[in-house]
This record gives sequence, structure tokens and C-alpha cells, in this order.
Amino acid sequence: MRLLMIGDIVGRPGRRAVKVNLGELKREFDLQFIIANGENAAGGKGITRDVAQELFAAGVDILTTGNHVWNKREAIDYLARETRIIRPGNYPPGTPGAGAIVYKTGRNVQVAVLNLAGRTFMQALDCPFRKADQLIKQVKEQAKVIVVDFHAEATSEKIAMGWYLAGRVAAVCGTHTHVQTADERILPGGTAYITDLGMTGPCDSVIGAKKEIAMERFITQLPTRYEVAAGLFQFNGIVIDIDEETGEATAIRRIQNYE
Ligand SMILES: [Fe+2]
Ligand SMILES: [Fe+2]
Repeated sequence: MRLLMIGDIVGRPGRRAVKVNLGELKREFDLQFIIANGENAAGGKGITRDVAQELFAAGVDILTTGNHVWNKREAIDYLARETRIIRPGNYPPGTPGAGAIVYKTGRNVQVAVLNLAGRTFMQALDCPFRKADQLIKQVKEQAKVIVVDFHAEATSEKIAMGWYLAGRVAAVCGTHTHVQTADERILPGGTAYITDLGMTGPCDSVIGAKKEIAMERFITQLPTRYEVAAGLFQFNGIVIDIDEETGEATAIRRIQNYE
């Protein structure tokens, strides 16, 4: 099977990039499953029901998230009901929503998607490595194909997670930095790995934010109001080929499209 994972979708420009690119990518690559990180999809921070519906209608099957998942308060109730959106599984027990989902594709392949968040330079959540073990145990009876979105800041923590899960999952894809890395590879045991998928959002920006505001913040060290940049967009993600009998990845290819 072949699937696409889309890097953090930022605001309206990001959603537009998904709508403009997805149809052609689906045809070109014969994609059977589409996962996207939606933590910045609503106004640059957070996710809402309307925005998620818009992305599902555009062809996204499952949305993963990250540290910005709760920025829009309605997400707290919404994630408790909407199973197609997951949040990092290493939030404290009792947090609304789930950290994993098993999804049946149109061609009847069961795929498990896991979401975890890093702890280096981020919130102090539970250990993502131990949580990964738990979630894999939870889904592996139901799905041979397991894909992980590891939402983390430090490249070292992400690479460590890649090695930790090598041979146990089909893919470990980093998200959160909004900058696509060029280190995609297949780790021993058939695990597709990339440190960061990148961003689907406005290109003339500072990781999605209006560049003037971001510069002012660095220069003055004063708090500034966040605003999503306008203008041209980019679409970042990866396409992975997976042998559905063994659950191993056989190919990984980066996608970097510009308007
Ligand atoms: Fe993000
Ligand atoms: Fe993030």
C-alpha cells in the first residue's frame, strides 16, 4: 500500500495547499491512505470541528496533532467524540481523545496510526518511548501496518525514537518544527524514517507566522500577537510504500510542492 503523511497544516493557506495538491497527488501516486498533522490548522494554532471537517472533505483520512492541540477550547469536547483525530498518547491518563487509532482503508487494509510528543524543550509529558511500547501492544493484534507521528522539537529525540521503533513499525515521521529535513531513509527492519515532514502553509513566513511579527519578537523580546502569514503556500509531506503482508516500508519519498 501507499500512504501520504502531510506536515503541519498551518491556517487557511495550509488548508488551501491541501485542497490544491491532494487530488493530483492521489492520482499520481495512487494513494490509499492520507494522514495529516492538524495541530496548526485553525488560525495557526489548534483545531476546530469546522476546520477538521474541511480537511476530511478534502481527502484527509486521519488527523494527528501535537502541543497546540488544545489551543482552541472546543477541541477538548470535540476530540472526545471525533475518532478520526488523535492527540499525543503520552498526555496524562484521563485526557480527552486517544493517542492511537486503527483505520480500515478503502482497500481493506487495517492501519494503526500513533501520535506521541517529545519532551526535550517541550511540555513535561509521560515518557513517549514507554508509551510507544504500550500503544504498539494495544494495536498490533488489529493492524500489521503501524505508522507513528512523533511530534517533537529536538532532532536527537526524534532520531532516537526512529531507532527505538525500527523493525517494529512501518514509519516514524517527525512533526512540529515546520521545517522539512532531508534525512528520509528506511531503517533496518523496514521502518521509514524522517526527522521532520515540514509544513504545509505560507512559505514567506517564519514557520507559518507573519515574518514581520516574528522578527519583532526576536528583536524586542516583547510578547507579540501571533498571526498566520498570507501569500504563496508550500505543501510538505512524504509518500511511503508499505508491504501490507509484513508491515514493512519499502520506499520513502519526500514531497515539497510550491504554489
Ligand atoms: Fe506545528
Ligand atoms: Fe507543535
